[in-house]
Formats: sequence, structure tokens, C-alpha cells
Amino acid sequence: MRLYIIGAGVIGRTHAEAAYKLSEPVQLRVADTNPNTLTLFCEQFPEAVGFTNVQEMLNSEAAQKDDIVIISTPPMAHFDPTKQALESGRHVLCEKPLAMNESQAREMIQIADKHNRLIGCCSVRFKGMPHMEAVKKVVRSGWLGDIYHVTFVNKWERSRSGIEYQPSSRWFLDSTKSGGGVLMDWGPYDFTTLNDILNPNKIVFNTAWRAKPMTEIDPHDIPFDVETHVGASMTYFRSNHPIHVHYERASCAHGEGYVKAEIEGTLGSLRWTPFDSKQPVFRRYDKQGQTIEEQIETGPRSQYTIFDNPLHHFYRKVKGLESHANVNDYALQNFQCLQSLYSVAETGQKQTIDLSSKGVTI
Ligand SMILES: NC(=O)c1ccc[n+]([C@@H]2O[C@H](COP(=O)([O-])OP(=O)(O)OC[C@H]3O[C@@H](n4cnc5c(N)ncnc54)[C@H](O)[C@@H]3O)[C@@H](O)[C@H]2O)c1
Repeated sequence: MRLYIIGAGVIGRTHAEAAYKLSEPVQLRVADTNPNTLTLFCEQFPEAVGFTNVQEMLNSEAAQKDDIVIISTPPMAHFDPTKQALESGRHVLCEKPLAMNESQAREMIQIADKHNRLIGCCSVRFKGMPHMEAVKKVVRSGWLGDIYHVTFVNKWERSRSGIEYQPSSRWFLDSTKSGGGVLMDWGPYDFTTLNDILNPNKIVFNTAWRAKPMTEIDPHDIPFDVETHVGASMTYFRSNHPIHVHYERASCAHGEGYVKAEIEGTLGSLRWTPFDSKQPVFRRYDKQGQTIEEQIETGPRSQYTIFDNPLHHFYRKVKGLESHANVNDYALQNFQCLQSLYSVAETGQKQTIDLSSKGVTI
């Protein structure tokens, strides 16, 4: 099959590595407007055919029905190449966040639908991992009783993309290029995970906030206007049953950094580390008035890494196989969660996302 990568930077290279683990040989094409980055990519993957012009790459040969284009450019450059790729008759796997704003995201899905192509989002990077599937299995089994509360906090003290992490990619800090801060960066994974596990038919965003704690090394010579700490209080509904969700995500905070994911029900609770599959999953319940804590079995580790998953899931979807990919409307719903949170933070008005017609699970 043929894989076209648009954006030959950090994540474009990980997608190329993932391509070689697919179950069939891959012919690699790559486009980047920066000739230096393109050269580095082609040195690492000498069999790749390189282009500095996206349209030229897409026009270089007729589309085949299982061609996949990966968009691995910064968010401000997701829309145009996605449109070009879909209009060329190819399926598109787009990096997260899907777009800069909701109207762009909607239009991308409409173009995909019009051309009868799949559009997926790389927000599914952590989906299908054994520890996530173990959590899902317990949640669906009813073992927790009535689930009433979820804590989902991933708070790092100093891990800002564009400063502590990948300082060469300053676009992360500029909202006109990134669309937003830590929510646009990590929220796609958070909401894919929460929605996959809780399988809601409706989400109400009750309150939300965003903040930008300052540090002495904040850059002042470039635009830096994105949030690095964000939070929300949400109610997830499964049928009419409410689950109260406390959500927080930080790449910079003056409070203590910690990670906590916990689901509480009337009969027991589950605690796990969402984005680290090496950490155990614990369940707790009562025995004769005492709390019992046990580690649960999570099954063997997958042969694929989190960097392989987006392409592997999407490839399976394109091939018509069972898959963890979130495509078209499901990809849009994930993006709408981010936009709703921002909107509530800005306006103070509640927002509801109705997922009943489409659902968010595979
Ligand atoms: N870096 C990570 O760890 C990581 C992880 C997961 C997802 N992502 C996502 O991947 C995307 C890219 O991030 P990155 O870290 O690889 O960025 P990067 O800065 O390393 O690379 C981006 C590349 O895109 C190229 N580019 C920009 N506009 C272009 C255009 N119009 N046409 C062709 N090429 C263009 C740039 O020249 C650059 O080489 C972002 O959406 C990001 O959120 C990054």
C-alpha cells in the first residue's frame, strides 16, 4: 500500500517507523515545505520519495482505494492538506488536535463524507492498550455497582510543549498556530480515553477554566498565549444515569504534580495510570467493613507501541477490519469536547454534547 506523510517533523518520522510494522509492504511518500526537514527525513528513510509541495505529491500518481495520507503538520496546517488529500481521493489520518476550530473540523468531515473517504484522528494513540481494555471490561461488567464519580487528573509541573518538551517547535505556544494549549495538545487523548471507557450518550460541561501559570523562563521574544493548566466539571450520562467527572490537565502548575484516574461506584472502585501501560490497575472493594485492594490482570502487552497505534488502528479501519480508530463523526465528537470546554471556560455557560446518535465507541 501507499502511505503519504505530510509534515516530516518529529511525529511524521514516528508514523514512518510505524508504517514498516504494517502487515503489508508500504511505499512511502513524504512532503514538507521545509527542505532541511525533508532531507533529514529522506536520509532516515532512503526509500521515501520526497516533495516540497503537497499538491505535487498528491498529483504525482492516481489515487488507489486504500491510499492513506497522514497529516503530521502543526494544527494551523491541518485543514488545507487534509482537504487536498481528501479531494485527491485518499483516506486521511490527521494528527491531533483535528483542527484549529470547530467550523474547520466540521468542514473536514463534510469533505470526507462527500468524497466517501475516511478521516481519522490520531487521538486514539492510547486506545486498545491492554490496561485500558481491562478497565473497560470491569466498567462494563457491573462489578463497580452504580458508577457515580470519576477523577481524571494528569498534572505535570513542567512539561510544556515548546519549552520543556520539544523546545524547537515553538508553534505549540502560539494559539494562532496551535489552536490552544495543553487542552489541544493532550485533551484529544484525555477525551478519547474517557469517552471510550464511560461510553456516554451525553456529556454536560458544567464549569470549566483555563490558566497560564508563569515561570521565570517563559519566553518573551515570541508569542506565548496558550493555557498550560485546564480543568472542568462534567456530567457524563449513560442513559439517564449521571456520572460526575472531575477533569484536570496541566503541563505547568505551581501546585504538586500528580496523576490520578479513578472510577468510583457503589460496590467498588478502579484506579489506573491512563497513559502508562506499565503501571498496574487496582480495584478496591469492601470486605467485612474493611477496604480490600487488589491488582487486576491486564493481559499481555501489545506488539505495537503508542506511536504505532494511530496508523495501525486506521489501517485496519481502511481495510474493513475491527478497529479502535475513531473516524468521521466520531473524530469530530472528540474535537467538540475540547471546544465545549473552551467555550464554557470563556462564557461560564453550560454546554451539552449529544452523542446518542453516533456513540463514541468502536
Ligand atoms: N511531537 C510530539 O510528540 C507529538 C506527539 C503526538 C502528536 N503530535 C502532533 O503532530 C503534529 C506535528 O507535530 P510535530 O511535533 O511533529 O511538529 P514539528 O514541528 O516537529 O514538525 C512539523 C513539520 O510540519 C512541516 N510543515 C508545516 N506546515 C506545512 C505544510 N503546510 N505542508 C507541509 N509541511 C508543513 C514543518 O516544516 C515541520 O517539519 C501536531 O499536530 C502535534 O500536535 C506531536
